[in-house]
Amino acid sequence: MNETRRAVLERVADGPVSGPALADALDVSRAAVWKHVEALRDAGFGIESAGAGYVLDSIPEYGGPAVEYGCEAPFEVEYHDSIASTNDRARELAASGASDVVVLADEQTGGRGRLERAWSSPPGGVWLSVVCRPDLAPARATVVTMAMSAAACAAARETGVDAAIKWPNDLLVPDDDYARGGRKLAGILTEMEGEAGRVSWVIPGLGLNANVSSDALPDDATSLLAERGEPVERRVLVQRILERFDALRGDPEATREAWRAHAATLDTRVRVTLPEETVVGEAVDVTDAGALVVDTGSEDRVVHAGDCEHLRPV
Ligand code: BTN
Repeated sequence: MNETRRAVLERVADGPVSGPALADALDVSRAAVWKHVEALRDAGFGIESAGAGYVLDSIPEYGGPAVEYGCEAPFEVEYHDSIASTNDRARELAASGASDVVVLADEQTGGRGRLERAWSSPPGGVWLSVVCRPDLAPARATVVTMAMSAAACAAARETGVDAAIKWPNDLLVPDDDYARGGRKLAGILTEMEGEAGRVSWVIPGLGLNANVSSDALPDDATSLLAERGEPVERRVLVQRILERFDALRGDPEATREAWRAHAATLDTRVRVTLPEETVVGEAVDVTDAGALVVDTGSEDRVVHAGDCEHLRPV
């Protein structure tokens, strides 16, 4: 949403305010005010025009302008009812120089997960990708993924769901029947491009099963809807995620703290399968590069990537 349109919206929210008063305050023509009001109505904002002027009566349930309105983070939100993959679109935007843009979709038809897996993305989920340009060395870019998982976990908990982070950056809802530590609520696919030892862009792509019924999800997955028994307000959920993500992303130490505070993997016995060996022990910490520190009983092993299973205590 451009600055003038945002200013019109803020003023009509505090309205009623007349067209001429808006034009004066924003230093634009009355015709321009009318155009912005019409565009906002087209985007789903209910703007009444009574004798005293324009006043905001209702806001749209979901979409780009709806998420931007009242969001305390500096992101522009590009919304799609349906798209192949928000990460693919975000990569296009990154290639053309964009920054701090969120691509948000109701449905993805070609959602991509980690390890080249498909990611089921029916309507009702939160499928979003953020184009970021942090001043980081590529080896430190994991902190952006950690910021997103901590932000999404905190926002999911605010909806009343007992979510936790499973290393590296999955969100689970713990469930004793599931050997893998719980049912998967969300995952993050981070893609990045670097140049001369610096990150050029990094895109954390979050898939959070929000208002999706269990029938539409893989067997080992769950959703906020399934856990709560009623839908969440996705507009508010996305705003909270973006605000927390924005507050954390420039602060690696705060990110690591937030990650630790939400992690199910820490203080848990784990088995991490690496290409050439298996590390078993207690997960005791995470490094600022996102690696897991496992106390095997004889040493602390730092594992950077691998398949992690949560084990029952011995
Ligand atoms: C995982 O495998 O756990 C990561 C899943 C990431 C899915 C999200 S949905 C939004 C974004 N767009 C994609 O195509 N993938 C990510």
